[in-house]
Parts: sequence; structure tokens; C-alpha cells
Amino acid sequence: MAGPSAPSGPDLTQGIPLGIVGDNGNLLGHVGDEAVLLARRGDEYFAIGATCTHYSGPLAEGLMVGDTVRCPWHHARFSLRTGEAIDAPAFNPVGCWRTEVRDGSVYVREKIEPGFAPARLKTQAAPDRIVIVGGGAAGFAAAEMLRREGFAGSITMLSSDNAPPYDRPNCSKDYLAGNAPEEWMPLRPPEFYRDNGIDLRLETEVASIDARGHSVSLTDGKSLPFDKLLLATGAEPIRLDIPGANAPHVFVLRSLADSRAIIERAKAAKHAVVLGASFIGLEAAAALRAREIEVHVAAPERAPLEKVFGSEMAQFVRLLHEEHGVTFHLEQKATAIDGARVRLESGQTLDADLVIIGIGVRPRTALAERAGLQVDRGVSVNEYLQTSAPDIFAAGDIARWPDAYSGSRLRIEHWVVAERQGQTAARNMLGAGEKFTQVPFFWSQHYDVPINYVGHAEGWDDIAIEGDIAGRDCMLRYRRGGRVLAAASIYRDRESLEAEVAMEREAVQ
Ligand SMILES: Cc1cc2nc3c(=O)[nH]c(=O)nc-3n(C[C@H](O)[C@H](O)[C@H](O)COP(=O)(O)OP(=O)(O)OC[C@H]3O[C@@H](n4cnc5c(N)ncnc54)[C@H](O)[C@@H]3O)c2cc1C
Ligand code: FES
Repeated sequence: MAGPSAPSGPDLTQGIPLGIVGDNGNLLGHVGDEAVLLARRGDEYFAIGATCTHYSGPLAEGLMVGDTVRCPWHHARFSLRTGEAIDAPAFNPVGCWRTEVRDGSVYVREKIEPGFAPARLKTQAAPDRIVIVGGGAAGFAAAEMLRREGFAGSITMLSSDNAPPYDRPNCSKDYLAGNAPEEWMPLRPPEFYRDNGIDLRLETEVASIDARGHSVSLTDGKSLPFDKLLLATGAEPIRLDIPGANAPHVFVLRSLADSRAIIERAKAAKHAVVLGASFIGLEAAAALRAREIEVHVAAPERAPLEKVFGSEMAQFVRLLHEEHGVTFHLEQKATAIDGARVRLESGQTLDADLVIIGIGVRPRTALAERAGLQVDRGVSVNEYLQTSAPDIFAAGDIARWPDAYSGSRLRIEHWVVAERQGQTAARNMLGAGEKFTQVPFFWSQHYDVPINYVGHAEGWDDIAIEGDIAGRDCMLRYRRGGRVLAAASIYRDRESLEAEVAMEREAVQ
């Protein structure tokens, strides 16, 4: 994704007459060749970098909420006072400049260099040793936040993966399509872990957790003590139980290694079959089309993603993929993979020198179950993300938490939710006592069409559609009993942010 490149707007060092920027408004300008956002809140003026540090989203098109600004693309939040990336999916701060009001104008002055951050959380009994099980979204975000909060004890991150934490969503998008270079994938370079004293141990599998004795055992027989533990083991792809499903040209897509293996196979492949019209299945289909491979998608549902988006948006998603050359075989299950052919229930066979199974995931809860933690279709946590063992927290795809807006206990498989839960769990391991009240958000990318979604709706009475879905300019509100449960949008980024804020305000009342 490309963000704003050449700085536009006025040179903010030359002064902007007061009144040009309305209350709660902002102005995009520049300082030298850096794009800078001049924002006003009451009588206060702030100047921060205008380009989101996640994927370069244009913050001037985002939404200001209090003394923060939210990115229009994937809803990261930045402090207007310091430029800090307060909430994922951005982690790096944007620049921050001093402002001065003089003679009826506001001037942007020198850049404020981030200083040494002392421990922000003053806790009575800070733990000495924190162990994080999982090196994915939640685990990484937690480790990063622990150091940002000034935690000085030991952090050990145990990950069964062979790669340091990476941009998992990209594994089915630009990276798989061949449009993202390798250096985009790691969330941080290797020296980050060394410099921040994070003992990241890759290819390290935790075998069991002794909740009472405060230790974890590894599959190599070693054990490790902890004062607080974060369990963030994510989810694993469901395998298909049909003949041929374990053949070497049949793949699931969860990890960077999976994505690389598919890319390797795709180099010589001509015909791909994707089993399952899930987000991952469809994103993989789009990526393979970008590689000019013939793609067939077979799935049991009537329309792709209908359960999540409803029939109108599902129809749009189907047509969009068909326009790009994907052939659907819906209301059809595969019965066998027979060499380079996939057999469907109807008896039809599809050529396939590459097969991707994208039929969903199941949370990796085995460790929690064996440790005697409360499990209910996910690891049960309270609003502080604490499991039934007070020194063990859980976050991400495995955690089922009491959602403040819906009032239901949710377990959700979204990147941003996992990262933000990791951030909240980190602060709570340090004793912050912070409730996780964030409204769920996810995005999905199909060719050049991003779909953003806030809230969570597993069922609804009706969908209020504003705009034009086919015209790629729409907002769909999923309502039950007159209440908006969730909102999906295409190129209505501000409205998506506004819907998120409206839900948050209702949730905390
Ligand atoms: C290809 C792909 C694309 C996606 N795209 C999107 C998207 O566009 N938008 C969106 O919102 N979400 C997306 N998701 C979902 C999102 O990536 C997940 O919700 C998120 O990664 C969950 O984070 P997590 O930390 O819970 O688990 P993960 O990120 O899966 O991390 C789990 C970690 O635990 C480790 N682990 C597991 N068991 C053990 C053990 N016993 N010992 C040690 N380590 C262990 C694993 O190796 C891994 O490092 C996508 C997922 C995939 C696979
Ligand atoms: S580009 Fe800003 S949150 Fe992704």
C-alpha cells in the first residue's frame, strides 16, 4: 500500500492564521519534506507526522477523538501530544513538533525528540519474570508494550514458529501475490529483541504449564519459571479429512513458512483449487490470480462470506472475484484429492497442481486445558484478560472475553484485536487493572478493494445499506432490535471510524 508521498499543503513553519483550523479539525501541511498534521483541540494546537507508521495511511483523513487521531485504514491510534502509537496495528510513533501561537498565527517549531521513558505504571508488586507463550500478534504486542511501559524485569517469548513475529495478514495478501518484499514481513528487525532484552526463543514449543507452581515445561525437557504468564498460542488451520488431503501439493495457510511454501509451488503451478470461501481462501485466490494461475474455489456455502457480511455484500465479493477470473463451485464440498485432480460431490473434477485448504481454524487451547484453566470454546478470561489462574493472562485468537459493547462473551480471530489484547494484557500483568473495552475491528483485502468491519454480528434482523456496494462506496449496518451490532464498509473510512466511536461510547455507559 502506498501512502502520501510528496508533502502537500502549506509550510507549517511559516505560520497558519488562527481560525483556519476549526475546533477538533486538522490541516495537512509540511515541515521540510515531512508531511505534518496540524491539529486543534480547543485552544491547543498539536503537530505530528501525518503518515501512519503501519502501512502509511493518511492520518489527515482519519478521525480525531480527544487528544488522539485514528488512522482511516486500519484504525491505529496516535497521541496528538506525543506522536506515540497508542493502539495497534501501528507500533512506531510518528514525529512530534512543538507548536507556538503568536501574533494571531500558529507556528510549527522544532521537532521534539522522544526522550527516555521512565516506567509509566507504578505498581506495588511488579513481577520479575514474564513469560509469553506465542510469538504472533498478541505475544509480540505484549512484549513491545511491556518495554514501552518501562518494565525492567525479564521477558521470555517462546514461539514454536521458526520466524520472529511477522505481519501474518500479509501472508495471504501482497506477500503471497509477490507484491511485498521480504523486508515488509517482520514486525521488528532482529536487533529489536536484543536491544530490548526480549529473550525470543524460536522453534521452542511449550509442552505444559504448571499454573500453581508458576513454571512452563518445554518439549525439549527444560522448564522455565514465571511470575506472570501470557498465553497467546493463536489458532491452527483445520485440516480436511478426505483422501489425498496430505499430499505434498496440498497446503494450509497460517504461517510465513506456509505462505513461502505456496509461493514456491505457485512458481510452476498452472491450476489452483482453493477449498473454502473463507477470508483466507479468497485472499489466497486473489493472490494466485495476481500470479496468473487459474483459480477455482469450491465451498459448501451459497455465497462467499455470506454468514459474515450478508447476501448483498457476499454477492459483490463473488462478482469481484469472478471479474478477476476466479471460478466458483458453491454448495459443493470436495470429496477427494486424487493426484492433480480435486473431486467434488457433484462428481466434477478440477485440475489442481496446487490446492489450498482454507476452511477455518480452531483455537490452540490444549495447553490451557491441560493446565486446568477454565476453557469454554476458547480460554475464558475476565474483562482484564485474566484466566481462571490469576497470574496467567490470555489474549488473541484463543481468548474468549466479555465484550463490553455486545454484552456477549466473544472469541474473535482478528489481527488488531489480538494485538490490542496483547497490549492490554501487558499492562495488566504490570498491575494496571485496565478493562479490555475495545470494539473489534478487522479488514480484508480483495484485489484493490479493502473491506473494513467494526463491531461483531453473528446474526441480525436487517442490514441498512448506505451508498452503492457495486460502486465500491458503501456502509452496511447490521442491526438487531434497532441497535447497530457491526458495520462493514468499502471506501467509507471516516464513517467506519465514526461507527467505532459510537459503539465505544455506548459500551462504556
Ligand atoms: C494468512 C492470514 C491472513 C490473515 N489476515 C487477516 C486480516 O486481514 N485481518 C485480520 O483482522 N486478521 C487476519 N488474520 C487473522 C490474524 O492473523 C489472527 O487473528 C492473529 O494472528 C491472532 O493472533 P494471536 O497472537 O492470537 O495468534 P498467532 O498470531 O497465530 O500467534 C500464535 C503464536 O503461538 C505460537 N504457538 C502456538 N502453540 C505454541 C506452543 N505450544 N509453544 C510455543 N509457541 C506456540 C505460534 O507459533 C505463534 O507464534 C489472518 C490470519 C492468517 C493466517
Ligand atoms: S495504515 Fe494506519 S493502521 Fe494501517
